[in-house]
Amino acid sequence: MKPIILDVDTGIDDALAISYAVNSPELELLGLTTCFGNVTVEEATRNTLLVLEHLDSAVPVIPGATKPLFVSRVKANATHIHGEDGIGNTLTNLPTRKALSQYAPQFIIDQVRSKPHQVTIITVAAMTNLALAIMQAPDIVNLVDNVIVMGGAVKRAGNVTPHAEANIYADPEAADYVFASGIPITLVGLDVTMETLLPKKDVQAWRSKGTELGTLMADMTEFYIDAYEDFYPGIGGCGLHDPLAVGVAICPDFVTTEPLYVRVDLDGFHSLGRTIGDLRSKPAHEPNMQVCLKVDTERFLEHFLSRVV
Ligand code: BDR
Ligand code: CA
Repeated sequence: MKPIILDVDTGIDDALAISYAVNSPELELLGLTTCFGNVTVEEATRNTLLVLEHLDSAVPVIPGATKPLFVSRVKANATHIHGEDGIGNTLTNLPTRKALSQYAPQFIIDQVRSKPHQVTIITVAAMTNLALAIMQAPDIVNLVDNVIVMGGAVKRAGNVTPHAEANIYADPEAADYVFASGIPITLVGLDVTMETLLPKKDVQAWRSKGTELGTLMADMTEFYIDAYEDFYPGIGGCGLHDPLAVGVAICPDFVTTEPLYVRVDLDGFHSLGRTIGDLRSKPAHEPNMQVCLKVDTERFLEHFLSRVV
């Protein structure tokens, strides 16, 4: 089993990623750390606990950053995509379990140090928690097994601006700090996640199971697919951004990667948060990450659907 920390801003596709991860025997979930992003960190923590309750999972939840590292430039929520509550307006009750009283960056440091060279961190939110962890404990850079980042768009358009993807845009300084730190990274960006569209017919199959989990996931995901349809008319489904990052942790060969040197634009008026890969034949720097550029959509979708609900 691969020890995993999953860093979330739950969020509908985060909820799907959590369910997929909990139901995957290859992964040992050490904890779910939460961050601001789709919703506030308090809401993300609440949503994470609720999803885990539906899955009968006792995985610890550890709250993290409430705001970006240095500059709050953007309104940190995506209620138009994820609903007022972040989970497609399905919220009816509060979780019975509480989050740990630890702080996410410290949890990351402790777990990585206690299992040297074993832990994979999957970030599917702004990268603030991981950046804070590295600032406080730079030794973890050489102690993690890998960091799988859902974020960025290297050879593709952004989704919150023409160039920027939401998780990077939410805290560009944090993302760039992590990218420059030397930590091993696999970047699962819009280059591949926008190739993983989930159509409504698959969601209807969850509903027809008649289970509480199936109904909740179907209600949330239908909201998400409708939001995608408004945003990208005719698209016919929603991008499985966060689930693909979990999928890559389970089966790295769902994707094809290219080693590249990638940094984040921190100055651009029109391109703030853009993930810029050095695509020249003779780049000026050694690659700092593996960038996913192709995905075996059919195989990933089949695997995801066999586990998520
Ligand atoms: C990412 O942004 C968030 O809204 C989603 O949960 C996902 O992590 C996609 O750009
Ligand atoms: Ca997310």
